Amino acid sequence: MKALITGATSGIGKKIAEKLNERGWELILTGRNEEVLKQMQKELGKTEIIAADLSQRSEVMRVYGYCREKNIDMLVNNAGYGLFGRFEDIDLEDELNMINVNVVALHILTKLFLRDFKKRDSGIILNVASAAGFMAGPLLSSYYASKNYVLKLSLAIYEELRRDRSGVSITVLCPGPVDTNFNNRAGVTFSAKPITADEAAEYALKRAFARKFFAVPGLAIKAAVIGQRFVPSKLLAAITYNVQKAKKKAGSDERALDR
Ligand SMILES: NC(=O)c1ccc[n+]([C@@H]2O[C@H](COP(=O)([O-])OP(=O)(O)OC[C@H]3O[C@@H](n4cnc5c(N)ncnc54)[C@H](OP(=O)(O)O)[C@@H]3O)[C@@H](O)[C@H]2O)c1
Repeated sequence: MKALITGATSGIGKKIAEKLNERGWELILTGRNEEVLKQMQKELGKTEIIAADLSQRSEVMRVYGYCREKNIDMLVNNAGYGLFGRFEDIDLEDELNMINVNVVALHILTKLFLRDFKKRDSGIILNVASAAGFMAGPLLSSYYASKNYVLKLSLAIYEELRRDRSGVSITVLCPGPVDTNFNNRAGVTFSAKPITADEAAEYALKRAFARKFFAVPGLAIKAAVIGQRFVPSKLLAAITYNVQKAKKKAGSDERALDR
């Protein structure tokens, strides 16, 4: 069995790679950091690597081109990151790059591999969204919106596959805080206790192999995901603003957020 994992150089993607490797899977790993990819290849064996910047559409197509004749059984769309700040303050180019990685690359790979998987009526797609995918996220607005896209796109595909009684399955991982490099890149600290990347990866694979759609790891986040359905969306956005504001790294300017 063979899997393509995006964002495999760190955090949840790296743990998914290690866990599939322990289960005897062959891997194709991608990320921008070629040094880490080479190191992982050395450690894991039976692993191919392809360094790529998924914010560039041509690079996404190059990854697909590299993989298309390799009989991939599982696609793990994990690469992603967040940008913290008021919507009007975040640099437009930075934001569009993030949307390219979180949304466009995932969209392209999901569509192209789904077509291949449907031809042979087998294959697993594991898309990494977030608990953020269930709501609006002031101060991380585009990140939350990108994860809403991932969640809703995946759910729609799930229903199409279910109607077809397809052998192809799709699972969406929706974690709350996970202890990875995510916060460093977003420039925030957690306001709630994170789970480990190991826990998130293990749960994601368990749900994907069971062909379940939702993978929401941890009781607290499951309760929050269910609870938010009963809160009016504007009130939820106000609560989320305060949660996000509390994540701001110590030392940064509070007035820059509230004005
Ligand atoms: N940590 C959390 O609290 C949390 C919660 C919910 C959902 N998630 C989601 O989980 C996924 C994995 O994040 P993580 O928490 O494991 O964070 P992480 O440790 O920062 O890992 C992010 C991965 O994405 C890759 N990546 C980032 N920009 C890329 C680009 N332009 N091109 C190609 N690859 C790129 C990185 O690889 P390179 O740096 O080598 O390019 C890295 O392997 C993301 O989709 C994130 O939104 C995280």
